[in-house]
Amino acid sequence: MAQHPKPSVTIVGGGMITGMQLLPSIYHMQRSGLLGEISICALNAAPLSRLMEDPTLRRGFPGQGFRPYPDPAKVDPDERFPELYREVLAAMPARHIAVVAVPDQLHYEVIKFALRQDQHVLTVKPLVLKHAQAVELEELARQRGLLVGAEYHKRFDYRSLLARRDYRAGRFGAFRGGQAHLVEPYYYRHSNFQNWCTCENSDMFTYVGCHYVDLVAFITGLRPTAVSVYGVVEKYPNGNQGYLWTDGRVVWENGAFLSVLNGMGYPDAGPGGNSQGMTLFCDGPKDGCLIRHSDQYRGVAHSYTEPGGDPGDTVYAEPNPDYFRLLDLGDGGLTPVGYGHRSVESIIHSIRRLEAEAGDDLEKRRQYLRQVDAAGIIATPANSSYNELVIEAGRLSLANAGRQAAIEYGEKPQVRLK
Ligand SMILES: NC(=O)c1ccc[n+]([C@@H]2O[C@H](COP(=O)([O-])OP(=O)(O)OC[C@H]3O[C@@H](n4cnc5c(N)ncnc54)[C@H](O)[C@@H]3O)[C@@H](O)[C@H]2O)c1
Repeated sequence: MAQHPKPSVTIVGGGMITGMQLLPSIYHMQRSGLLGEISICALNAAPLSRLMEDPTLRRGFPGQGFRPYPDPAKVDPDERFPELYREVLAAMPARHIAVVAVPDQLHYEVIKFALRQDQHVLTVKPLVLKHAQAVELEELARQRGLLVGAEYHKRFDYRSLLARRDYRAGRFGAFRGGQAHLVEPYYYRHSNFQNWCTCENSDMFTYVGCHYVDLVAFITGLRPTAVSVYGVVEKYPNGNQGYLWTDGRVVWENGAFLSVLNGMGYPDAGPGGNSQGMTLFCDGPKDGCLIRHSDQYRGVAHSYTEPGGDPGDTVYAEPNPDYFRLLDLGDGGLTPVGYGHRSVESIIHSIRRLEAEAGDDLEKRRQYLRQVDAAGIIATPANSSYNELVIEAGRLSLANAGRQAAIEYGEKPQVRLK
């Protein structure tokens, strides 16, 4: 059965990333006539009430809404429904869209279940935490002719696409050594992170380091071959322990290295939403070459009459207009702009195109998926599972006081301590 021209969307997870990026993008595409009904399923009703009442979303998308599971009108806000997403996904018509925005360690189960229900998948990064899981999901999706796109939105920052184009044209020579950092704000420690971004589940290298590791692969086409990660364990306000600071070093197949500092401690008093950037030094035939991105300070400085009402808001601010903003373009609501929006849009457009061009022809659907994999712009299990190998190697290294873990490619890629 061909997909409806306006596929419906079920978002699993109603937290920060859903509220600030996924839902506004999806609302916008719904308003533009590209998507049908939207449902959101969370662990409990409380975050769904917050999304329903969010003043920016109400102002930006007047008259639009979603079906909440569980329904805040019918259940206690904190009562948990960990398996409800299965019922919601199972009730969807085949070949519509599941958006996965649950904590990292739950991605695998939710994506697998969605694929088994014949749903296309857009998932937030990281796709999964183990390479073997990425391979399994790739195969499951291939069998059914379904697209799985992992939303690595830094890829859709124009500066990344420019660097990729010019690197691949040979204009930067060969990457030799680089530094990247992404330090999230201190106030994150007080949010839901303290319940899941804990030592046994994740760490700052896994949670945000993957952005720059993925970006270096995206730009250069090189594969990572070894990883070492040192971590500092600190207590969250609720007493849980997390690797809140990490220093990772990734070695690439040509011997180049990238060092990546990650943390959850950018001062709340600081003017940006976080601190981030990347410098890649390269060797050309006659001179050194360079790619340097200041990803936090984008040349905009504001000083307000008083700070906004959200955590981390400051009087003097350096806002990033490029990631995700809801702007008044004169059409009565707010329009999402930026690489966060382009990234979501690109995966959804690709799913829609697959259905429109290949319909029920499974071989054509697989051919389309091979093209998406080969183009390498959207991250898929087939073209980006080096990220899962880096995560596995990083977790192994962290658990062994920063010893280097090698990534071995071949028939069955794996990681082992050096
Ligand atoms: N820069 C990025 O790409 C970026 C930024 C933020 C978060 N993320 C990713 O998004 C994911 C979620 O992060 P977040 O910041 O929104 O987290 P969050 O803690 O704010 O939200 C997690 C949500 O998952 C829901 N959930 C948990 N278990 C569930 C279950 N069994 N069924 C249904 N819902 C369930 C919770 O109710 C909550 O709404 C993580 O994988 C994170 O790595 C990516």
